[in-house]
Amino acid sequence: MSDAPAGRGGPEQRRGPEQRDGMEQTLTTRALAEINACVDLAALEEARVRWLGRRGALTEQLRSIGSLPPSERPAAGARINLISERVQHAIEARRADLERTAVARALAEGTVDVTLPGRGEATGGLHPLTQARLRIERIFRNAGFEVAEGPEIEDDFHNFQALNIPADHPARTMMDTFYLKDGCLLRTHTSPVQIRAMQSRAPPLALIAPGRVYRRDSDVTHSPMFHQVEGLFVDENVSFAHLKAALHRFMEAFFEQTLSMRLRPSYFPFTEPSAEVDISCVLCHGRGCRVCKHTGWLEVAGCGMVHPRVFEACGIDAERYTGWAFGAGIDRLAMLRYRVSDLRLFFENDLRFLAGFAGGAP
Ligand code: PHE
Repeated sequence: MSDAPAGRGGPEQRRGPEQRDGMEQTLTTRALAEINACVDLAALEEARVRWLGRRGALTEQLRSIGSLPPSERPAAGARINLISERVQHAIEARRADLERTAVARALAEGTVDVTLPGRGEATGGLHPLTQARLRIERIFRNAGFEVAEGPEIEDDFHNFQALNIPADHPARTMMDTFYLKDGCLLRTHTSPVQIRAMQSRAPPLALIAPGRVYRRDSDVTHSPMFHQVEGLFVDENVSFAHLKAALHRFMEAFFEQTLSMRLRPSYFPFTEPSAEVDISCVLCHGRGCRVCKHTGWLEVAGCGMVHPRVFEACGIDAERYTGWAFGAGIDRLAMLRYRVSDLRLFFENDLRFLAGFAGGAP
């Protein structure tokens, strides 16, 4: 027991239990208030050191117990430990709180607002020539034609001879052929695809052959590689009238407008009779403009009735069957449909040009 009278104040070790009680109350209240006022984890850690650290206020309190009368020490020690525990709990609770809000804040800051517009990833689009080709294929498929393909490297037989163009035929010079080694060549038209079809199957035949073709030709309106679509229809009683009707329907479907069409006599070794196909200008509707060179007409295809010699070369009975064929430039059709004035734009692949066609559907 201390011999100092209670309530007299003075040095701590002389304080009586009641005073200690009051002081402990104040300490507890202060500690809890400070802890709850901490706005971040760093401040909380500072508070922890201030109260519970090696030289913290409560640690100091525990140390000071040694100077109490022995009989008071256990009770005082127990009380200080209790306070320390409360403070420790308060710190843990506050830490959990602060961590929760930190996580919530990070989540809120990192939240993706899915209703905002995207960063503008550019979507690709089909090349205008592909769009034109798919459009042509769709129109003919709808009419019951199949789409046939064949090799771009051909032999002389399929590209020329079977098409009634023998070795000494003047039409060969018209074709400006790229010859490869060992007698092969780059096909100058897609007619060889039709030869292959007629060799492998018996009529009736209704097909189109779209694809790349090659000629030694290069200027504003000619590219050494360009695209053609040829059509072939073979059956009994097939007539020139049928050819004209089919082509007319196709042109109107492709350009999505009513057109006039006329056929002018022409010559191809593989068709007889042969004709050039003109349609009324799709831009000025026949009134005359720069594109149709003020004639009102556009030449868009060549056509004719399959020559009997071609049937013979393919093993088809020319007495029983007749057929028609046509050939058109996809590039030219695309230029007219999409109002492109320079063929080279299709092959330069300038994205500023191509972007105008993105999203276009055939
Ligand atoms: N094959 C010819 C060419 O490339 C086009 C054509 C095909 C003409 C069919 C008439 C009939 O010029």
